[in-house]
Amino acid sequence: MTVGDGNVLENDAKALISALEWQVAMGVDEAIAGIPVDRYAQAAARRQARADQARPAAPPQMPVAPAPRPRADADSPLGAAEAAAAGQKAARYCKSLDDLRQALESFDGCSLRNTATQLVFGDGNPQADIMVIGEAPGADEDRQGKPFVGVSGQLLDRMLSFIGLTRENFYITNTVYWRPPGNRKPNDGEFAVCRPFVDRHIELIDPKLLLLVGDKSVRGLAGATTGITRSRGQWYDVKIGDKTIPALATFHPAYLLRTPAAKRQAWQDLLTFQRRMRELGLN
Ligand code: URA
Repeated sequence: MTVGDGNVLENDAKALISALEWQVAMGVDEAIAGIPVDRYAQAAARRQARADQARPAAPPQMPVAPAPRPRADADSPLGAAEAAAAGQKAARYCKSLDDLRQALESFDGCSLRNTATQLVFGDGNPQADIMVIGEAPGADEDRQGKPFVGVSGQLLDRMLSFIGLTRENFYITNTVYWRPPGNRKPNDGEFAVCRPFVDRHIELIDPKLLLLVGDKSVRGLAGATTGITRSRGQWYDVKIGDKTIPALATFHPAYLLRTPAAKRQAWQDLLTFQRRMRELGLN
């Protein structure tokens, strides 16, 4: 490049802008490190380390082939089914939240973990009677490892505080445990592989009421077949094991940030929720 050559500089700027646009189209939405991080390589190294640890020591003259690992690619229907079965097996035996967190830490059946920074498990009071379930962690949650800590989380906390709920008296998690790239919604395969863990999570918290926040959560957990504008404000029965838990559907706070006019309906939902809490003597 010749300094002072306007055309060259302009072409250079165009090339840089088009490279940037390409990255945005590929789902890159933030620069958080000075050097690129290959998360696929990191995930492969983690898998290898776990496989090495799990493999029994081989007798010196008889090399033992490593046990075949189940394929667990949520992107293919076969992989998703296999991964969901592996998840079911792993989640079933978890006797505590610590067990469940550990099982998720070593579960590689959900492809979201390959692009996420870390697991986003849950937050709040594990003894609570109220459990809130959102959709998927976003960028702030991915960075901090806690659900609903970004702007939409702050809005949700503020709204819940108006009906006397704080993270001291509710517990909060999501339908998937890793951030989908580019903050997209989790797809059905990703939800399916996380579902056994979510079910076990609910069983371990054992809430009296559920608040389902956002369309994915309502469709996925309550089986709603209509969109959130119709399902919000409705009660559903969520069956987990031998229990049926009443669950109220409401808008996602990110939607409320984009559509402030919907806050009125969200407020009505929270009053509906508060009424049921009072009926059950929960506050
Ligand atoms: N949105 C969600 O659904 N969950 C989070 O944890 C953050 C934002």
